[in-house]
Amino acid sequence: MIERRSVLVTGGAGFLGSHLCDRLLAAGHDVICLDNFFTGTKRNIEHLLGQPRFELLRHDVTFPLYVEVDEIYNLACPASPIHYQHDPVQTTKTSVHGAINMLGLAKRLRCRILQASTSEVYGDPSVHPQREDYWGNVNPIGPRSCYDEGKRCAETLFFDYFRQHRLDIKVARIFNTYGPRMHPNDGRVVSNFIVQALRGEPITLYGDGKQTRSFCYVDDLIDGLIRLMGSDSGFTGPVNLGSEGEFTIRHLAETIVAMVGSPSRIEFRSLPQDDPKQRRPDIGLAREQLGWQPRVPLESGLSNTIAYFRELLG
Ligand SMILES: NC(=O)c1ccc[n+]([C@@H]2O[C@H](COP(=O)([O-])OP(=O)(O)OC[C@H]3O[C@@H](n4cnc5c(N)ncnc54)[C@H](O)[C@@H]3O)[C@@H](O)[C@H]2O)c1
Repeated sequence: MIERRSVLVTGGAGFLGSHLCDRLLAAGHDVICLDNFFTGTKRNIEHLLGQPRFELLRHDVTFPLYVEVDEIYNLACPASPIHYQHDPVQTTKTSVHGAINMLGLAKRLRCRILQASTSEVYGDPSVHPQREDYWGNVNPIGPRSCYDEGKRCAETLFFDYFRQHRLDIKVARIFNTYGPRMHPNDGRVVSNFIVQALRGEPITLYGDGKQTRSFCYVDDLIDGLIRLMGSDSGFTGPVNLGSEGEFTIRHLAETIVAMVGSPSRIEFRSLPQDDPKQRRPDIGLAREQLGWQPRVPLESGLSNTIAYFRELLG
């Protein structure tokens, strides 16, 4: 039998957060889902609203919070360029002030806290694949910096609280993840291509389509976050969580068009500034420390995601 805990999930009404709430409740825990609904939606968690062990809190992490919990997953932050560039100052505040507030709460409660960091801390990497000891190649003053540098500073804060206050921290560097409940208009490549294919619109491909990405299905990613939270207190990370299967963006576009059975054609556009050409995690550390690796093949993950968007747009 598992020990029942009270868990705070910030950003709990978002894509990853809502799946995490599902899994924590299914495992028998009490969940406080905190969100300001900037990119998250009630639709993602409406099936949980009647459950006695689920509580929804409308709150902005840039303001202090006082609740009693045993664990904190800090996911609050817009994750797609369209959303995080909408109000870049607020994005940095969400990462940095949000981290300070949640770390302050964890310090007061002496509880374990996990940060959802990102592969964007590696920037446009000059080593490939990326291991956790690579320090990254990040532009500090570009349009993506509010997110990349905000997340880097949040990591710094986590490790300073660890060293200075002996806080029990966990840092996950999440690589591209996809699945049901992604935002349909967030411009992320998987959701973009699926929505365009379902609508029979041209598939917009930036650059020549030879840039590669690795895609992790949401169920695998959530499994990784839960394993990390449950890992030995000596293990802080940062640890990469993502898929090693590397695909060109063009391959992804063609696969989605074929799976949807869409008449859509591919249209090429110029590459946005600072868009990384290639990114793939080295997940040796996650394998060794967490016994974790992704299991869901791209085609089955895509098939669930296409079914979700078909119903949403239907
Ligand atoms: N999905 C990915 O591929 C991916 C990759 C790397 C890192 N991450 C990280 O994982 C986390 C979750 O990402 P996601 O894909 O679910 O994105 P998402 O946008 O769906 O979820 C983020 C959630 O945070 C909420 N939020 C934003 N600002 C807030 C604030 N100031 N106060 C309270 N809530 C706020 C949003 O409303 C939303 O519900 C983010 O921290 C993101 O940086 C995600």
